[in-house]
Amino acid sequence: MAGGRKATCNVKLDGTDEPPVLQGRAAMTTSEARVVVDLDVTGPTISRHLYGHFAEHLGRCIYGGFWVGENSEIPNEGGIRLDVVEALKALGIPNLRWPGGCFADDYHWRDGIGPREERPSMINSHWGDVVEDNSFGTHEFMALCDLLGADPYVNGNVGSGTVREMSEWVEYLTRGGESPMVSLRRANGREEPWRVPFWGIGNEAWGCGGHMRAETYADLARQYATYCRDHGDNTLYRIAAGAADDDLAWTEALMKAVTCGLGCRTSPKHFFQAISFHYYTHAGDSIATTPATTFSDEQYYATMAKSLDIDRVIRAHSAVMDAYDPDRQVGLVCDEWGTWWKVEEGTNPGFLYQQNTQRDALVASTHFDVFHRHAQRLVMANIAQTVNVLQAMILTDPDTGALVLTPTYHVFEMNRGHHDAQLLPSHVLSTPSTSVGDTPLDLLSVSASRRDGSALLSLSNLALEDALEVSLDLRGVPFEVARGRLLAAEDPRAHNTPETPDAVAPSTLETRVEGTTLRVTLPPAAFATVELTLS
Ligand code: AHR
Repeated sequence: MAGGRKATCNVKLDGTDEPPVLQGRAAMTTSEARVVVDLDVTGPTISRHLYGHFAEHLGRCIYGGFWVGENSEIPNEGGIRLDVVEALKALGIPNLRWPGGCFADDYHWRDGIGPREERPSMINSHWGDVVEDNSFGTHEFMALCDLLGADPYVNGNVGSGTVREMSEWVEYLTRGGESPMVSLRRANGREEPWRVPFWGIGNEAWGCGGHMRAETYADLARQYATYCRDHGDNTLYRIAAGAADDDLAWTEALMKAVTCGLGCRTSPKHFFQAISFHYYTHAGDSIATTPATTFSDEQYYATMAKSLDIDRVIRAHSAVMDAYDPDRQVGLVCDEWGTWWKVEEGTNPGFLYQQNTQRDALVASTHFDVFHRHAQRLVMANIAQTVNVLQAMILTDPDTGALVLTPTYHVFEMNRGHHDAQLLPSHVLSTPSTSVGDTPLDLLSVSASRRDGSALLSLSNLALEDALEVSLDLRGVPFEVARGRLLAAEDPRAHNTPETPDAVAPSTLETRVEGTTLRVTLPPAAFATVELTLS
């Protein structure tokens, strides 16, 4: 790893040099499924920003995760951990949301600029009631984005901030030439403006961001957005703080605020350009109750049902948005998603540190299948959160600093070929299914896309006991299999630790081709990708 501490993982970050074949969980029996994919019928582009990330001042996400400080023994550039940067670059990380979350509405950006030893401290009241010394601030975040090659998504403070404060932050970051904020930025060592494409107008305004009513926030969003100006050639994509789960009334209030009303076709997205929503996955009980690594089979299936239910939620928000904005000019952004388990024993409950198993990998893979299908309206998604918090890509050991890549990380890496690719229609003609309560649950989830003469198929077998033989009729374009990859484990509770970093890691998937039919056998609770070369 360039310049960094060697990751405790023997799988190369680009997915090559994989161990031969990991068989996964022994199957009780094998079921069958049939799928048709039209390789020659292209749909909307799957924005790479659906693979976005989120880093909050929460627990060990920033401090100990991204940031170790310049004096650390862990290899770093200007205090930023290089092994974390390398691991995320291998995912093609498209954007990074910061500084929160709930923290964003408590954050005053001027406390995080200038000489570090002179920066005032604050209490991080939402997350552990610990002292935040502001040593990671605006310049450090922008340096991190530069190292990652990721677009910054800065989330401003509506809850406890002012319009002027937010307006000046935009000016400080993005204005060139001469101005009061430009002078301040220059005094802090940065001559040129940065490019900031994405701007959040507060967070969870219905809750930690101010406990507002929808109409109150909708008006504030218009007001704040007005003063978040485009400076020079920096054009902001302003994202209003949206609903929790399927709170459609919240979305409707924002759509009324951003458009000129039902049936009116002028000036949609005039004030802000997108609306967010947040969706967390749990095991059917509530967040923060089920342990990450010890769960029952029932809880596993309940998790899969909850994960796939995001399809209903996106459909419902989209239907509301379609009524006001039939041309789909306003974007929908899911800027917090992922699993939320009980914190690991012995860790600060306010730090939201949880392990990450093959179950989490399948939550990620099924979310992506859903996200791909909604690519026309859904323009961005950000997993919560990138390092050491909730459904993380990366876990770092607080004592040794060792870095572990989680099963979720591998799903992001294996799906990288979907970034900015065009959705291909995939029709599941038959699949085994089960039910969770009264809700039917199909045990096969798929999606497919095409880009530059190649296609990528993603397949998840959600069954815990049975392997799944999938026959895919790949129509319209002659193809060859370039590579099949499998993410499987002896047990869906399997996870990676510094001692066993590759307990869950990609291996080779065997593929069989007869005419236009591709056959693969997926072990129980497994995720797989097949890369095709198209002629
Ligand atoms: O991701 C953790 C927290 O969950 C975020 O700060 C908040 O927006 C959400 O409630």
